[in-house]
Amino acid sequence: MNYRKYMSTINEDYQSRYHMWTEHRRYTMEYIEKACNGISNPSVLVIGSGNCDDIELETLSEKCQYIRFVDIDTESTKRAIKRRIPNAKNVEIVNLNIIDTKDSEFEGIAVAIRSKDGKTIESKFNNVLKKIPTNTNTIVPDAYFDVVVILPIFSQLTAYLYEVLHQAQLPESLHKLVDKVALPRLANYWSYLAINNALSFTKKDGNLVLISDMVDLYEPVCVPFFQI
Ligand SMILES: C[S@@+](CC[C@H](N)C(=O)[O-])C[C@H]1O[C@@H](n2cnc3c(N)ncnc32)[C@H](O)[C@@H]1O
Repeated sequence: MNYRKYMSTINEDYQSRYHMWTEHRRYTMEYIEKACNGISNPSVLVIGSGNCDDIELETLSEKCQYIRFVDIDTESTKRAIKRRIPNAKNVEIVNLNIIDTKDSEFEGIAVAIRSKDGKTIESKFNNVLKKIPTNTNTIVPDAYFDVVVILPIFSQLTAYLYEVLHQAQLPESLHKLVDKVALPRLANYWSYLAINNALSFTKKDGNLVLISDMVDLYEPVCVPFFQI
């Protein structure tokens, strides 16, 4: 298992949940439509599209000139498009990690947690977090969009590492520190990177729609170190 595989397994398992998300889809679309208001033939970038359960694909495809869907698991988005708007010509699906973090970096953190060694864990987290705040927007955009939508991906950025933590069975105090300090800080930092990268794809007079499942706006992102 790794970060990508974890996401694609979840997306595959959740494929048939479209009807569970009716209310969530309704308010997500309300925000997207508001952001598109007044823009003729908007171009839209959707980040974290997955199974597209939170998007009315038919409506979006009718109203927009062009839509780009981005995810690290593009297979799920391909399935949704094929099933729900098979004839749409204004859709592109791109495999992109919005926090621009190498798979080996995710795995390095997982390996450190599995080591159960406090010093190894501390040094790994500090190495990642010390990039704050110099590492802001790392993706060079190849296009700019009228509307950029971030779907609820923030909790997903560290979901795999939480899974690794729960399997690792660390001593209680170390577990608590990783669970309550290190991973939340990493989640906040990666959410911040995702927002910055999303902003860099947004036209100067465009709109960013951020549907968040979690982000601690009170936790300063510039607190890089945690001590064991
Ligand atoms: C909770 S789902 C969002 C709901 C999704 N729109 C749906 O209806 O299935 C989070 C999505 O974010 C994607 N994701 C997680 N980390 C990502 C990353 N670093 N870059 C791009 N997409 C990511 C996952 O693959 C997943 O499809």
